[in-house]
Amino acid sequence: MGHSGHDDGVSNTSGNKPFEEVLEANVSRRKVLAGSLALGVTSFLPSIAGAKHGRDWPGRDWKDSLPGRHTRSRLMKFEPVPVSEGTGPMPTISADYEYDVLIPWCEPIEPKGPAAQVPPVSSADQAQQIGIGHDGMAFFPFPGDKKSDKANRRGMLAINHEFGSNHHVFGRPDEYYSALPNSMEEVRISQHAHGVSVVELQKKRGKWQTVNSEKARRIHVNTPVAFSGPVAGSSLLDTPNGNVPLGTVNNCSSGPTPWGTYLTCEENFNGYFGAHKGSWTATDEQARYGFSSSGFGYGWEKFDSRFDLSDADYQNEENRFGWVVEIDPFDATQKPVKRTALGRFKHEGATTVIGKGGRAVVYMGDDERGDYIYKFVSADHYKRMMRQGKSPLDEGILYVAKFNDDNTGEWLPLTMDNPDLAGRFADEADMLVHTRIAADIVGATPMDRPEWTTVAPNGDVYCTLTNNKYRKSLDEGGKWDFDAANPQETEEFNADGTSKGNDNGHIIRWNEGRRAKHTSTTFSWDIFIIAKNTQGTEDVFSDPDGIYADPDGRLFIETDGGQKDGLNNQLLVADTKTKEIRRLFTGVTGDEITGLTMTPDRRTLFINTQHPGNGLPSNSSFPAAPESGITPRDSTFVIRRKDGGIIGS
Ligand code: FEO
Ligand code: CA
Ligand code: CA
Repeated sequence: MGHSGHDDGVSNTSGNKPFEEVLEANVSRRKVLAGSLALGVTSFLPSIAGAKHGRDWPGRDWKDSLPGRHTRSRLMKFEPVPVSEGTGPMPTISADYEYDVLIPWCEPIEPKGPAAQVPPVSSADQAQQIGIGHDGMAFFPFPGDKKSDKANRRGMLAINHEFGSNHHVFGRPDEYYSALPNSMEEVRISQHAHGVSVVELQKKRGKWQTVNSEKARRIHVNTPVAFSGPVAGSSLLDTPNGNVPLGTVNNCSSGPTPWGTYLTCEENFNGYFGAHKGSWTATDEQARYGFSSSGFGYGWEKFDSRFDLSDADYQNEENRFGWVVEIDPFDATQKPVKRTALGRFKHEGATTVIGKGGRAVVYMGDDERGDYIYKFVSADHYKRMMRQGKSPLDEGILYVAKFNDDNTGEWLPLTMDNPDLAGRFADEADMLVHTRIAADIVGATPMDRPEWTTVAPNGDVYCTLTNNKYRKSLDEGGKWDFDAANPQETEEFNADGTSKGNDNGHIIRWNEGRRAKHTSTTFSWDIFIIAKNTQGTEDVFSDPDGIYADPDGRLFIETDGGQKDGLNNQLLVADTKTKEIRRLFTGVTGDEITGLTMTPDRRTLFINTQHPGNGLPSNSSFPAAPESGITPRDSTFVIRRKDGGIIGS
């Protein structure tokens, strides 16, 4: 697979077609391109559903608004980072902003912990230090501070550690993407580098830092966890040897809940399992989740049988991963809870809003080529459920999205009331463990790798679709023709003439109307931006991943993938009305910019560099000086406007 963080394959063999009139498989490239253009245009026609909801899309004619460089945005006045400066082994930030580095990998989670080290470390130390693969995070002010400025100067930060490739974690750059663990100790180092950190932060003399705290903790692959919701108690979570449920892994994005907890999302969990002892062939169910005998090359199964798919004693262990996990950032004794009503898939993130009737609504992407977008709606007002001692995330309906070509869409419920689902699954638990298969059956729309979602104040929900090299690549195992919601538009070709598919990504948005407030089963949608169309401008970006809509109408966009014009990955800010874009920050060679949270006053921003230099000191030693030969470390950036203004302005 080459890359140990993400799945390079396709697991969706459902044959779900993006539209009714499927193009003939042998259609010529010329015809496909012509079709692409024609269909691309349909996304910008006035939407029937939009009219029904009494809503007009702002900025539909996005082509007129690019580039925004010389247009004065009321929302963004900062000096952008020029393309020519966004390269190299150190970050670049707008002249109007400044940054500090916080909590690099291998710093202790509190000052009294094992001293900050240059990796590699022991597994015992790693379990008390910041992990690797900094990703989604959320800042939680103390409840008692919320009415004062203290809320902007101290709080808990919960941060995901998505993944660290073995060559990076073990400090073996010569074994780039081929390093395997040589001992159980090395497996434990890797496992302890994954998971979540919860740290207490304080701003002292203008600098944010960790402090000793009884609330600080590490959660990793061997931390005891609990299950809740419809799958809890199901035999599908039982293993023959009765081992207790442990750990969370590949924690990608995340989201805070309105009730003050942290949702961390298990994404490419399949990659940590392999077959070591005996022969093994994937069941259809395992294949739909991408399990393979070698996994992504972590090699945990060599020493830890829990991750050996061929070990009969651990049958079903893999069903314990692929969930959204709820963590209390203020109680280090709380057992993380896997909320099974939210389904099992490659959870990118979880964005919770309060919808009509006080229902908790959670938007979620399943990040794989041709997989789906979901939402969960709680059964009742979240406060009433909590008063009854229930979690709002344990009872409700999980829906999957269908995007029609006429800019309407439907949320298709995944319930056992549907005879097709009742005919396929033994019970609700069976259906939720195999959420992807249920979504295939109801006819969800295969998307170009759904990443983060965010909800704007006007109810618009944005979702990044990062790329899909198999979209329209009809002769490369790509089974999806373009459709209006995934219009491709990337007329780029490999040397052999095959299409590169949607190589740059796009951002889609939908709205269910003011009245429905996120609880409708229909919506209208449009495409906010196609990254390809920024090429050739100063605002060029591709592979959108992290996304955040602020209360004023800004959209923060973080990238993860090969940027054009030699750029490193970046943080941009867009004006959602005018679609103007400005580059606020660029990372370092080989990294990804991800994770985004702010203090309540929006004057301090936290973002991350993940896998700087792809773990190779020859690319970057960040945060150490370039060419120091030191292994680069994933880190958080604390960013502020030099004049103390609102972030993004
Ligand atoms: Fe972990 Fe889909 O990014
Ligand atoms: Ca991501
Ligand atoms: Ca990504």
